Amino acid sequence: VIDITTLYKDTGAFTFDPGFTSTASCESQITYIDGEKGVLLHRGYPIEQLAEEGHYLETCYLLLYGELPTAREMEDFEYRVTHHTMIHEQMSRFYSGFRRDAHPMAVMVGSVGALSAFYHDSIDISDPHQRMVASLRMIAKMPTLAAMAYKYHIGQPFVYPRNELSYAENFLHMCFSVPCEPYKVNPVLARAMDRIFILHADHEQNASTSTVRLAGSSGANPFACIAAGIACLWGPAHGGANEAALNMLMEIGTKDRIPEYIARAKDKNDPFRLMGFGHRVYKNYDPRAKIMQQTCHEVLDELGIKDDPLLEVAMELEHIALHDEYFVEKKLYPNVDFYSGITLKALGFPTNMFTVLFALARTVGWIAQWKEMIEDPHQRIGRPRQLYTGAPQRDYVAVEKR
Ligand code: ACO
Repeated sequence: VIDITTLYKDTGAFTFDPGFTSTASCESQITYIDGEKGVLLHRGYPIEQLAEEGHYLETCYLLLYGELPTAREMEDFEYRVTHHTMIHEQMSRFYSGFRRDAHPMAVMVGSVGALSAFYHDSIDISDPHQRMVASLRMIAKMPTLAAMAYKYHIGQPFVYPRNELSYAENFLHMCFSVPCEPYKVNPVLARAMDRIFILHADHEQNASTSTVRLAGSSGANPFACIAAGIACLWGPAHGGANEAALNMLMEIGTKDRIPEYIARAKDKNDPFRLMGFGHRVYKNYDPRAKIMQQTCHEVLDELGIKDDPLLEVAMELEHIALHDEYFVEKKLYPNVDFYSGITLKALGFPTNMFTVLFALARTVGWIAQWKEMIEDPHQRIGRPRQLYTGAPQRDYVAVEKR
């Protein structure tokens, strides 16, 4: 008979850390966050500089290879990514199996997972060349799959990629072109889209990235791992927060109702939380939120949207929360999701596409982290322990005697 009081006696050091708040699961050279100071670096480069001066595919290269590319390397990388933007034609028929009113994230989990049924060569994760091909395929195909999920949802025909466009321009083209009227690229909006992708590219060991690593640690193929990451990202405490934040701003509606919602957020008997506020790691301003706020203003200006009521509510809410004792004491600042919803709405996306766009942008982070893990000589299958608090050992009782 096992005495459960002695269960953990001989396990050596054993930490119980719900939510892994202070347990590192890996070594990584990709992304650094200083949550107290509000610093985010990719391979050492501040996110502000990458978002201001660079572009998304350059950040992808940086995350994957560890260095910024030379002009020649960039050209070669862009060529290799654009080579993979198409998806197997049979996959387009796969979409028709979904209901039109399905959430696009549900479609993404299914379609990305299905890539492993189409690209068998990328399943061999022991081959470094195939790992890189799988990485390029994922980065290249995500915009196509995301745009297809959108088009299917709204009942329009799929639009094929145009490889002479930039990554962000091509995505907007695939989402907003219709047969009778091709999408006209607006450089300000395309730049905003690109910046949103950069801001979401990686964020070290968050829930979805940890999910990708954990799935990958068993040797599962990269497409299946990314599908697992997408499923995790969907939750409202993670990537689903941008959708939830915009819904909340619409529900608040006018500035005079803000105090009511602030009071609800503070009430411990009310499960309501201010969406787009707070972060597990940042106990200071999320540096991405500042860039997102600026990008939001640029997009609204470009589109001539003046006095947007949602933006007004958002700015007032931010102002009030930043001066409220509860939020100050708990170090709850706006996160990247707070302003991204308003920006994406202005760009023309419905709320249920917001998390899809996050998944698209985060794919490079997931795949870079997955590659790093596979190539780590210390890599072992991820296997968290538990603290068992269930029944002690007991004997089976036949059903008629219970
Ligand atoms: N509104 C009101 N109170 C909050 C909020 C919020 N948004 N966030 C945290 N708190 C409070 C909690 O009630 C808790 O209070 P207590 O100490 O009195 O119990 C305290 O702050 C700490 O909160 P935890 O949930 O323990 O913090 P944790 O690090 O586990 O959670 C999280 C972080 C999930 C992001 C949380 O702040 C939250 O739910 N925010 C809203 C959802 C959101 O915006 N998510 C996006 C995250 S960023 C991203 O995924 C890109």
